[in-house]
This record gives sequence, C-alpha cells and structure tokens, in this order.
Amino acid sequence: MSNRRKSTPAIRIDNGSIGPYGARIAGVGHYVPDRVVTNADLAQIFKTSDEWIVTRTGMKERRWASPEMASSDLCIRAARHALERANLKPGDIDCYVVATVTPDYLFPATACIVASKLGAAGKPAFDIEIACSGFIYGLPMAASFIRAGVFKRVMLIGVETLSKIANMEDRGTAILFGDGAGATVVERTTAANDCFLSCELGADGSEPEILYQPAGGSREPVTAESIKLKRDKVHMSGREVFKIAVAKMADTAKTVLARAHLTTQDVRWVIPHQANLRIIEAAVKRLGIPRERVFVNIEKYGNTSAASIPIALSEMVEADRLKDGDLIIFTGFGGGLSWGSVAWRWSA
Ligand code: COA
Repeated sequence: MSNRRKSTPAIRIDNGSIGPYGARIAGVGHYVPDRVVTNADLAQIFKTSDEWIVTRTGMKERRWASPEMASSDLCIRAARHALERANLKPGDIDCYVVATVTPDYLFPATACIVASKLGAAGKPAFDIEIACSGFIYGLPMAASFIRAGVFKRVMLIGVETLSKIANMEDRGTAILFGDGAGATVVERTTAANDCFLSCELGADGSEPEILYQPAGGSREPVTAESIKLKRDKVHMSGREVFKIAVAKMADTAKTVLARAHLTTQDVRWVIPHQANLRIIEAAVKRLGIPRERVFVNIEKYGNTSAASIPIALSEMVEADRLKDGDLIIFTGFGGGLSWGSVAWRWSA
C-alpha cells in the first residue's frame, strides 16, 4: 500500500453510513464503432473547416454507428470487454445500469436489453438519464448500492449513439458529437479498501432548453411538423453551456477534494467529460492542476456524452497509466443542466 493511500482514512463519512463494505472498480472496457468521421468529412456535409473545429473544440474525428446499430449493441461489446478484464461472466453481475440519452427505445430501459443479450436475463436492470453527467451520477450510485450491501457487483455502462439525434443542418452542434460505450464493473471490497472518497452532484432544470431534444417526450410528441423543424434532434446554446461547464467542473472538483481532506497536490489524474478541449483546459486551470495530469482523448471521439469518461478510463487502463493508489477526479457536466465530480482512489 502506498504512503499516499495510508495517509488518508479509507472511509469518508461525507457520503453516507459507514458499513463493512467498500467499492472498487474491478474492470473497465469500451467499444467505439468502426466508422471514423473526420472534420474533412463534415466539411462535405455543411460549411465548416478542420481548422475551425480543431481550434474551437480540439476534435479531429469522431465515430458514428451504422444505421442498424443501436446503443445496446455498443453496450454489449463494451460490457464484454469489461467482464473479460475483470475475469467475470455476465451472471456474476448483480445489477446492470445504463446511462444514456440515446436509448434503444424511450422504454423499456436499454439496460434490460443489454443484460438479456449478455445472457443475464432476470438480473435487475435500469437506465439513468442525466445526459453527459451519466457516469458522474452513476458511479456514486453504484458504489452506494455496494456499500449498503444491496449488490455485490454493479455493471455501469455509459453509452451514446448521438449521431442519430444530431442535426446535420446545424453545424454548431453536429460537429461535436460521437458514438461509443464505456463499461465499468463496480464491485464489493472491504471498507478499509474503499475507493469511493467523495462526490458533489448538482442540477438546475430551470432552463432545459439550453441543451435538449425538444420533441419526442410528453411535452412535445413527435409530429411531421416537428421532424421538419428538426425538433427531434439536439438543440443547444453553446456559449451558455460553455460558461457553466467551466465553473461547475472546477468548483465541484474543489469541493470533493475538500470533503475527502485532500488537495490538488494529491491528484494524480483528472478524467474529465470530453466535451470541448477549451472547456477542459479552462476548468483545470481554474482548479490549479497541471495539464499533464489531465487525460484527454477528445481528438479521436468528440463528445460521447455519458460514455466519454468510462471510455477514457478504459483507454487509461489499456495504456497502463493508472497505478494502485492513484487519486482520480472524475468531473463532468451536461444537459439538465447537470454537473458533478467524484474523488476516487484507483485500486489495481
Ligand atoms: N464551422 C464553422 N463556423 C461555425 C461552426 C462550424 N462548425 N459552428 C458555428 N460556427 C460559426 C457561427 O455561425 C458563428 O458565426 P457568426 O459569428 O458569423 O454568427 C461563429 O462560428 C461563432 O459561433 P459561436 O457559437 O459563438 O462559437 P463558439 O466559440 O461559442 O463555439 C461551440 C461554439 C459549440 C464549439 C462552443 O460554444 C462550445 O463548445 N460550447 C459548449 C458545448 C458543449 O460542450 N455541449 C455539450 C455539453 S455536454
């Protein structure tokens, strides 16, 4: 056990009751569709340029799922990858949770389909819908289930097929989004080895139209007219989101560190939601964490919403960049608006 690990108490009372159990991540996996869409490809669809997109967002390419591929298909591949890394079988998971705004259907939950297709029908399964904050909300929830003794293992998957709801007539949003899935197996460990240190979550739904899909819900069912007006696609006020994102990521990250009695010096990695390189850089500057401690893969995948953090985590594991005891700050924001950060101790 590293000194850094020893110097901080294993259990934080900030997150709830102290029980005999802690939570750790036993395996992560990811999947992205094969089709690569470059900035040059987008410039064939509408008036834009590689230079504009790279300068404003840091994105160079993204992946788009094929027409016959739904979110559950991406989930299954990511989940199998995570199970393989954790040396587990689908039946070893007690509960399947999918975070997404692009489910296979409005209902039933995509997680039900995923668990069944994996061969784990009968296990509890449900979706959470909190847009790009899906993993940030889902991780404390999964860890809390485990700490409370409700489940021994929870599979948390972040997935999006945002290409299916992108408005190809709106260059301000269509460039941003990509498809992918990231899966995480959160499992029981002892309280002394608990990896969940603290979290800070928030939401403000007073102006949902800052980032939303107007038609398709009970407020505005889809009609021929709404389809014509592209109201069944993503609508966003980019500048509004930008301002809020920087402040919320930095401020919640500071809060979770303070809650866990840690400082920015203790942070080995910030793994942020990959929405825009400028947002990430502004947020970590405000936080006072050097850029080399921030993981970024936005150039390859664009914004994959709820999938971006678990995809990043999976790539870090693949590249062997995480060491036992590393303090990670997961931080993100998204539609809602919603936001949050989680302080997590990596356990190899
Ligand atoms: N290519 C070329 N020009 C584009 C363009 C594109 N893809 N998209 C927009 N523009 C143009 C606009 O039409 C506008 O032109 P005008 O000045 O002639 O009217 C100009 O570029 C500036 O547009 P603006 O929207 O103000 O740009 P911006 O600097 O705010 O960057 C975003 C736009 C979307 C990149 C930026 O606001 C952003 O990333 N916001 C956060 C979005 C986000 O993260 N959403 C997901 C949350 S999880």
